[in-house]
Amino acid sequence: MHTRVLTGITTTGTPHLGNYVGAIRPAVLASKDPNVDAFYFMADYHALIKSDDADRVEASRLKIAATWLAVGLDPNAATFYRQSDIPEVPELMWLLTCVTAKGLLNRAHAYKAAVDRNIENQEDADAGINAGLYMYPVLMAADILAFNANKVPVGRDQIQHIEMARDIAQRFNHTYGSDFFVMPEAHIEEQVATLPGLDGRKMSKSYDNTIPLFEGGPKGMRDAIMKIVTDSRAPGEAKDTDDSSLFTIFKAFATPAETAAFAEALHGGLGWGEAKQALFERVEAEVGPMRERYESLMARPDDMEDVLQAGAAKARAIAGPLVQTLRQAVGLRSSRQIVAPAPAVAPVATKAKPPRIASFRDTDGSFRFRLFGSDGDELLLSVPFADPKAAGALRQALSTLGGASAVLETQGGQIVLKMGGDVVATAASADAATGVLRLRAELDALAAATAEEAAAKAKA
Ligand code: TRP
Repeated sequence: MHTRVLTGITTTGTPHLGNYVGAIRPAVLASKDPNVDAFYFMADYHALIKSDDADRVEASRLKIAATWLAVGLDPNAATFYRQSDIPEVPELMWLLTCVTAKGLLNRAHAYKAAVDRNIENQEDADAGINAGLYMYPVLMAADILAFNANKVPVGRDQIQHIEMARDIAQRFNHTYGSDFFVMPEAHIEEQVATLPGLDGRKMSKSYDNTIPLFEGGPKGMRDAIMKIVTDSRAPGEAKDTDDSSLFTIFKAFATPAETAAFAEALHGGLGWGEAKQALFERVEAEVGPMRERYESLMARPDDMEDVLQAGAAKARAIAGPLVQTLRQAVGLRSSRQIVAPAPAVAPVATKAKPPRIASFRDTDGSFRFRLFGSDGDELLLSVPFADPKAAGALRQALSTLGGASAVLETQGGQIVLKMGGDVVATAASADAATGVLRLRAELDALAAATAEEAAAKAKA
């Protein structure tokens, strides 16, 4: 089973060791799991809410893209893109905005905190608050729902946003009468430690206690590590490792054996100065080669642009057909389509034939099948299978899938059906808008007919 894992990376500031250990490293690792379909993107539209400094916005999204690639994200395995390169995201945001209760947004933590601060300072409740902050949760819902992500790894502070995305998705599904969206789940990494900063509090830009990941080179890293606060025990005295941020940071970079040896040395009286040098060397052994990649990426912004544009194309191949389906659903339809007027009297007992699947043996001996719509049109052609059992299993799965669960994407201008991440069939129609809608409806009809047949058999 493929799980689509999606997360947005806020493009503000410069990544530090806490970001690396807590978010970047585990996400890059997760993207290597063959059962994971990872979607990672730079949330640069979100960045505009917090910053109107254009040069900083530009610099930050560049640095953050380079950081993820340097750490080892494979843009061919994962879908890596900038939010602002996907016009379907703001388009979807508007469709979602129109089913979102204003009261829901009033309750968002970030907005409420800003209002509370204003009230405390005896200002107007909304003083200095832009509508972007207010709409933040809807934009985030669009980020997630445009790709029907299953799992969204986030920090605890973001859980409410995922709940809102579910809420909004449900309301849209309900309003327009179909399961357009799957319900995303927040995923909190429990094992990953939050790294302490120089002063022992959580490493965070807002505490000004960070160790930079790449910025400042090895010297910047070493200088910061030398500033980690320790107790005043002299060399030769036994050190307490339980309560030491230096030790905790070491642990995040070392194997259990290295960690045990380091603990023993500290208990045996290793001086803090030497311990800091050992920490620097351990961290630098992991980060050094990445920093070199980072610097060479930053020196070639054009190449990075190519990587991101390719990522955007991959992402749009999925969001595009979905948004087309939604446009149809809400009534934003082309006038060119001829809509047959509804017959005044329902035709008597001419129940349309359900869609059907027909198997055949291709000239090369492979096993394939076609899906025909209720009017007899050919809708889908499967890929060839050497093994008739594989073709049969797929045929079976397709009969019960239904339109809402079908993964339909455009590839090279063609609509394809995917299962378990692989293209298993190609659509006859190239028109993303009407083709996808039609396919979904026919797959629903096929699933209904299959269920009816099974029920009839069970009775007999
Ligand atoms: N709000 C998230 C954060 O601050 C970033 C983000 C934007 C995001 N869009 C998202 C995270 C979609 C997950 C899914 O961390």
